[in-house]
Amino acid sequence: MNNSPSERDVLSTRGIPRSYYEALFRETDGLKKELETKSVLSSCRGSILATVFMEPSTRTRLSFHFAMVKIGGEVIDFGPVEAASIAKGETFEDTMRMIDGYAPDVIVVRNKVPGSAKLAADICNAPVINGGDGSNEHPTQAMLDLYTMQKIRGSLDGAKIGLMGDLAHSRTTSSLSYALDKFDNVSIFYIAPSELQVRSEVVNALSHAHVEKAETYENIIPKLDFLYVTRLQKERFVEPREYERLKGSYQLDRASLSKHSKLPFIMHPLPRVDELNPDLDTLPIAKYFEQAKNGMYVRAALLKQIVSASRSS
Ligand code: CP
Repeated sequence: MNNSPSERDVLSTRGIPRSYYEALFRETDGLKKELETKSVLSSCRGSILATVFMEPSTRTRLSFHFAMVKIGGEVIDFGPVEAASIAKGETFEDTMRMIDGYAPDVIVVRNKVPGSAKLAADICNAPVINGGDGSNEHPTQAMLDLYTMQKIRGSLDGAKIGLMGDLAHSRTTSSLSYALDKFDNVSIFYIAPSELQVRSEVVNALSHAHVEKAETYENIIPKLDFLYVTRLQKERFVEPREYERLKGSYQLDRASLSKHSKLPFIMHPLPRVDELNPDLDTLPIAKYFEQAKNGMYVRAALLKQIVSASRSS
């Protein structure tokens, strides 16, 4: 696989070319096929993944864990922050230095501070994967999002994607925007109330994608191949009253979609709160659980690539 970004770490999708995704998705397809007949492979036997999640996670933490076990490696989990010496005042930097000293082969880190994954990578000898740094980026989420879109549509070139929700605080839509920008003739529709619109730093970093902004989805839906919904991120609001004011400002259910004859595929990084009604779950256009499941295979391919690159260096 083309090992880009050139560094061993996976911190951002900004510098990743499409050839990297294409190679990653071929590896993902290969692993998925192998895992149809074997429950555990041996690609990463003898390797250790450290998972360091200092913010809550279900999908990212567990899918990395399952992925490493399924390709033959082992996992050491940092556990809850309250049980670590951070609770006694130890710094993030000292914590990462200690974990790296135990010599894992790769580390996945999630922290609420933007830039924390880069900080960890600067400290650690082991390759660091950004499992989400505040509202900044979540590159492996973008990888599984692209993989799912490509499986559904066949190609990402020419795709029309609506990104809807709390875009101001979203790391998933930032990383996904940077990744989509590497494909040809992609259109991105940012759909959000003005207070939650996409950050200018994200749009300014795009050089190829056609970009539009809208406050509501009604007029945009017929144009889309995919509608990617995100939750309102309560934990990122400085002012709780502002969260309460915006709560419920965008919601999708069967009734709201019934007036449209052509519907896009619905995606969501999950977890959802109230923006995606469970009455959508049984529709064939609902792809969010498939998306989450794909995450394990994409992350297995990524771990395999990182471990084999560091073994051969
Ligand atoms: N999509 C995602 O990052 O989910 P978790 O927060 O559960 O890891």
